[in-house]
This record gives sequence, structure tokens and C-alpha cells, in this order.
Amino acid sequence: MTEKDFIFQSFPTKIDAGKITWKAPSNIALVKYWGKKPNQIPANPSVSFTLDACATTTTLSFLPLKESAKSFSFDLLFEGQSKKEFKPKIETFFARIEKYLPFLKSYHFTIETSNSFPHSSGIASSASGMAALALCLMGMEEQMNPNITANYFNQKASFLARLGSGSACRSIEGDLIQWGIDETIEGSSNIYAIKYPHSVHKNFKNYHDTILLVHKGQKEVSSTVGHNLMHGHPFAEQRFVQAHNHLRDLQTVFLNGDLDRFVEIVENEALSLHAMMMTSTPYFMLMKPSTLGIIQKIWQFRKASGSKVCFTLDAGANVHVLYPEKEKEDVYQFIKDELIAFCEKGQYICDRIGFGARKM
Ligand code: DP6
Repeated sequence: MTEKDFIFQSFPTKIDAGKITWKAPSNIALVKYWGKKPNQIPANPSVSFTLDACATTTTLSFLPLKESAKSFSFDLLFEGQSKKEFKPKIETFFARIEKYLPFLKSYHFTIETSNSFPHSSGIASSASGMAALALCLMGMEEQMNPNITANYFNQKASFLARLGSGSACRSIEGDLIQWGIDETIEGSSNIYAIKYPHSVHKNFKNYHDTILLVHKGQKEVSSTVGHNLMHGHPFAEQRFVQAHNHLRDLQTVFLNGDLDRFVEIVENEALSLHAMMMTSTPYFMLMKPSTLGIIQKIWQFRKASGSKVCFTLDAGANVHVLYPEKEKEDVYQFIKDELIAFCEKGQYICDRIGFGARKM
């Protein structure tokens, strides 16, 4: 599929007023997307676990306008409250996707959105939020063109979500998702994510992710700014090669279930991501002392117990603690005994690998 395949061939039939609701999950990257080219094209491929509990639910209500408007017409409600500060992001998103959904200026929209995770928990809601909105818009397209296939629906939803936020394209399906071209993965694409196409060892079924909320405030540097700092970064090219290598090594791990190698790759990715931040110009650091405290405790616990628990980080201070189903009791006890003390107000979220977005 190319970009052209996502453009409407003829202007679609108008539909009456209606309402569509989708719930889309968040995701956690194992190989990180960090650095991009114009049009939200990733500089390197990434692979992620789709989450289950952390999700955004969005209801899109639409009302046909008598005649097409000059600008996008929409209201935005976040957890029941009008949110003016979120509107520019949606404006930009609509402007980027209008070419692929030419009906956008023919309707007035009310977008009602809410997250399952606490407000300002420091968990990025852009992935689940953009995915949920893209799915609602695809729901409209489906009403206009009922012949579209389920595969096209998901691919275009992922394609559109990517134009809202790169990592959002990995929040449509589950449970292991890959985005970005790598020759060894057939069907991989820079413009939408796909379900990981090879077989996955049972060790990765029902993997757990307990998210420790270390710092709940606004991030000092947004992901978008961070991605841009990879242009001209002295280690950028080497980092992109590393991501490809990690992705290929992970393919072997997914096949043979080697959890020691899994731990090594996943933690190396998290630390490489933050190393890129710490060595860009200007440099910045999103980890907090508690982030490092947790990492050290995990390393000590692993050494003492032989556990396969590991951590990963996204662009923030919170720590995702990943562990296999068969270790869930022991690791959860360890988290309660030793890690919760590092969390802001003792807050954490128990999540696990999930199977993708759902129409409500
Ligand atoms: C560190 O998808 O938030 O979480 O495309 O600018 O919206 P934009 O960036 P975003 O970047 C996510 C970066 C990351 C790694 C990852 O999820 O792969």
C-alpha cells in the first residue's frame, strides 16, 4: 500500500448526523522510534507491545453542514470539560489528514475524549488519543464506503493516526506491532504499522507492564522537539543502525523465547533513547533520581533472584516494569516491597499486553 491508496477516489456520499465511539490502547515500544523525516516518516523501525488497561475512549459526533466550511469546525471535550488548549493539535491533525478524508470540512464535529489513566499522570495520551480519533473517522469513512475491508480499515486508521502522532500508528491492533521498513519483515511499512508477522514464543504471551509513576508533571521537552534534535545529532546514524540490529535480534528472541537476551535488548533500547537526549544539542534529561533508583533496584533483584524482570522508558521519567506471566506473583511482591516507594504519591498502574482497539 502506498499513500495514494489512502486517498478517496471520488467524493464520498454524505451521511446523516451520527455518533461513533472507539477505545484505543496505549503502547510501549521495545525498540524505540526516535528521530523522523518529513511527513511523520520514522528514521528507524520500532516494535511495541500494545497495552490493555491504559486507553483513551473517544466519541465522535458529526453533523452535516449545509455547505462546506472554510476551516475545520469542531468542539473538543476532555473528560467532560471543554479543552481549548488541545484544539491546535487537532487542527494540525485534521490539516494533515484532509487529503485522505476530504469530507472533514463538510461536518461539524464534537469530540468527547477521556483516558483510563489518571489525568496528568505523565503517561503520554497522544498515542491512544490519536488512534481513537483516527478509528472514529474511519468509522465515518466506512459508513460512506461500506465496501472497505477490515484490513484496509485498520491500515488506514494506522496511517491516519501516524499523522497525528507517530507512535499512535502502533495503537490500532495488538499484541506485538511493528512500524517502519526493515527488509527482514515482509509487509513492513513506514506509513502504517502492522501486526508482527512471525511466530512469537509463549514466553511473551500475557506479558505484564506495571507502570511506575515517578513524575506526574508536564514533561520539560516534548517528543516532537526531541525527535527534531536527532537532525545533526553526532550519534544519529549509528543509533538508527542499532535500532535495525535490535529489531533483527528481537526476531530471534521472539522465536526462541530467550528472555535473557530480551532483557538485554529492551533495557539497552531504553538507555540508548535517553542517551540520545543527553547528547543532543541542546541536551536534556527526562529521567529523575527515582527513575535511576528503580533501575538499580531492578538490577539488584534480577541478580539476586534470577528473575527476568526488566525496565523500559518512554520519553519521560516513568518506568515501565516488564515481566513474564509466570513471574507475576514474585515480581508484583518485589514492586510493592521495593519500588512503590519511588513513585509520586505511591501511584502505579498494572497493565499487560493487549489486543488492540475496540469499537464501543
Ligand atoms: C520515546 O509518537 O510521541 O515514546 O510523532 O512527534 O508525536 P510524535 O512523537 P511520539 O514519540 C514517541 C517516542 C517514544 C518512543 C516510541 O514510542 O517508539
